[in-house]
Amino acid sequence: MAQIAVIGGTGMNQWPGLEVRERRSVDTPYGAISAPLLIGRIYGIDAVFLARHGEGHTLPPHAINYRANIWALKQIGVKSVVAIAAVGGIAPWFPPAAVAAPVDLIDYTWGRAHSYSDGSSPHVQHVEFTEPYSPRVRRELVHAALAARIDIADGGVMGVTQGPRLETPAEIRRMKRDGCDMVGMTGMPEAALARELGLDYACLALSVNWGAGIGEGEIHAEIAQSIEQGMAKVRRILEAALPVLDAGDAAGYRA
Ligand code: HPA
Repeated sequence: MAQIAVIGGTGMNQWPGLEVRERRSVDTPYGAISAPLLIGRIYGIDAVFLARHGEGHTLPPHAINYRANIWALKQIGVKSVVAIAAVGGIAPWFPPAAVAAPVDLIDYTWGRAHSYSDGSSPHVQHVEFTEPYSPRVRRELVHAALAARIDIADGGVMGVTQGPRLETPAEIRRMKRDGCDMVGMTGMPEAALARELGLDYACLALSVNWGAGIGEGEIHAEIAQSIEQGMAKVRRILEAALPVLDAGDAAGYRA
């Protein structure tokens, strides 16, 4: 059974190369997942793919059922999750088509169902989030990128906004002052929910545009230009990283 899942975002609604053996619709106590889980084989290992925005990219970031998605992955036995995110670059070192494995995040989202703790359990769960992304999964992503000779930033702070609109230049300036290096709309509550359920979760972030007010160009044109080239890099990193992660999962390695 697959222990590795990839959650694909904008620019990765499908996973080319995945030999799909089963499309599984999972019922969860939280409602429907974004799309059927695609369970199959790729790079010689079992893996699961979930299209975060739905197969036809119909779900905006604030309407994604993050709780159902993460619950479904846990339920089918997934241990490690690589979350692909197309983001805007804020730091000068993160131009369009660059890749990063962020190390920390700031959550600016609101009104999303963001926890499995709903007051019905006798224990209030305050999960530790000092390292919001799994150090093990991050490390393997970075090593794999280096082995595949793809530049990757080992770190960076992800700011997660509510969307679906893009930010104003003043919002991006504020995020920069806050310490954000990149901005996306789907990183939370996904990462926190994965932590609540004990999944090893890390993000592979692809810059597809400069944050509002930083670049010269029009944002949608930048995205159109960089997304294909960037996603090709993401797929090569996955190809190098997933077999190693899978071996670690099989050995019960979690650190
Ligand atoms: N802002 C927020 N989310 C994004 C962006 C952005 O500029 N680009 C891609 N996802």
